[in-house]
Amino acid sequence: MVKIAPSILSADFANLARDVGRIASADYVHVDVMDGLFVPNITIGIPVVKAIRPTTALPLDVHLMIDRPVRYVERFCDAGADLVTCHVEADTEENTRAALAKIHARGKKAGVVLKPKTPAEAVLPFLDDCDIVLVMTVEPGFGGQSFMADMLPKVAQIRAWIDERGLDCELEVDGGVAPDTRDACVNAGADVLVAGSAVYGAADVCARIQELRG
Ligand code: DX5
Ligand code: ZN
Repeated sequence: MVKIAPSILSADFANLARDVGRIASADYVHVDVMDGLFVPNITIGIPVVKAIRPTTALPLDVHLMIDRPVRYVERFCDAGADLVTCHVEADTEENTRAALAKIHARGKKAGVVLKPKTPAEAVLPFLDDCDIVLVMTVEPGFGGQSFMADMLPKVAQIRAWIDERGLDCELEVDGGVAPDTRDACVNAGADVLVAGSAVYGAADVCARIQELRG
């Protein structure tokens, strides 16, 4: 069954606890952390992760769009993150490996993220150590962008590697996922769908989560 991870980037930040509560029927709370350096936007950080942690029973799926995330992963874990994903473009292979190890040492799930221009092969050095791989289907930085269908072969390739190796690794897609694009994602092999504007822009959030699950 496909998991749904609504992105609180599209929530009302002045009513964040209320809006996290509105997605209680989802599987993860997707938290987009941006530093204004790795991506041209600044969103939320460690204090906000800590603040929302007691407001929901759902796992917090923290997507770090920050430069050299190895510097901060432990603090995100301690703030209450359950899954932490780091961009492979954000540091050296050695440091990305160290970041994954630090997250695991905290007893949390770890993964890597690929930007649209990054080839599927970039996951290979990390795949055996990932609990989750996230494929961006928009340029990271902003919600509400159009889905990049040309990322689907990348999703399918990574799905094939996960299956060939028999890994216990989820495959997540993020960006432009909506009722009209979810089938293509699932058919390509995604099993976790991030959706921001499609969830929070819906008149009935709970029904939209169900619709995205399929
Ligand atoms: C973009 C973020 C996404 C974004 C998705 O950098 O990583 O999680 O919030 O928003 P939608 O679903 O509106 O494309
Ligand atoms: Zn995200």
